[in-house]
Amino acid sequence: MVVQNRDKNPNFDLIQNYYNYLDSLQDEEGGPYKRTAVGQFVPSPLSHIKTAFDYLIETNTIDTTKPFLDAGSGDGRIIAISSLAYGIDSTGVEYDQELCKFSSANLDHLSKLCTPHKSGYIIEGDFTEDSTYSSKGMTFDTFFTVFNYINNESSIAHKIAQSSRPGTKFVLLGAFPIKHYYQLTLEKNLHLTRDEKDPDKILISDQPLSEDTWIDPFGTYLQVYRR
Ligand SMILES: C[S@@+](CC[C@H](N)C(=O)[O-])C[C@H]1O[C@@H](n2cnc3c(N)ncnc32)[C@H](O)[C@@H]1O
Repeated sequence: MVVQNRDKNPNFDLIQNYYNYLDSLQDEEGGPYKRTAVGQFVPSPLSHIKTAFDYLIETNTIDTTKPFLDAGSGDGRIIAISSLAYGIDSTGVEYDQELCKFSSANLDHLSKLCTPHKSGYIIEGDFTEDSTYSSKGMTFDTFFTVFNYINNESSIAHKIAQSSRPGTKFVLLGAFPIKHYYQLTLEKNLHLTRDEKDPDKILISDQPLSEDTWIDPFGTYLQVYRR
C-alpha cells in the first residue's frame, strides 16, 4: 500500500521554511551537522517527517493526546513539528549544551509565529538517565511515544523495554527493521520514498516484515515498535 498525504498544515510549512533557512546559513560549512559528546547531530528530513506523522496519526499509531519524547532532540525541529504543527505535548532531551540552547531559542521564536499549539520543551541531559527527567519533575514512563533518529537507539530501546508502560510506541527513523528489539515488538515498518513524478512529494508504504520482504539498502525506513 502506498499512501500520499497532501493535507495542508500551515504551521508545518512555516516550521519547515524556518529550518530550511537556518540550514542554508550553514551551507558553506557543509550543512547543519555536528559531532556531539555522545553522538552525531544530523537533522531529520522534514518532508519525510510530515508524511510519516500524517500517516502515524491517521492510523492511530501516534496518540496525539499523550506526551511525546524526542530522545536526542538536536536543534529542536522534531519537537517544533510535534508540538506546534501537530499539537502534541512534547519534550526533547539533548545532551549537547549548545544545541540545547539553540533548540530552545528556535522553539521560543516559532511558538510566537504558530497559531494554536501545545507547548514544546527541551531538557539538557542524557536521555538514558532517570535524573534527566526527575530534574524537571517528570518521569520517563509518562512518554507514550518515544522518537529517535538513529543515534544511541539501542540504549533508548532498552530503556523503553525496561521502564515504559505497556503500549508505549518507539518510533525509530533511519534504521532497518528487526522483529523484536529487547521486549519491543515491531508493529510497522514504513518505507519512505520520493515520488519520481513530483520529487517534493514523499510516499509512504507499509512493508510488514516477512521472509520475502525486500529491504532496499539505500532506502529510508521508519519503524514503530510497541512495548
Ligand atoms: C541524529 S540527531 C537527531 C536530532 C533530532 N532528533 C532530529 O531528528 O532532527 C541525534 C541527536 O541525539 C543526541 N544524543 C545522542 N545520544 C544522546 C543521549 N544519550 N542523550 C541525549 N542526547 C543524545 C545527539 O547529541 C544528537 O544531537
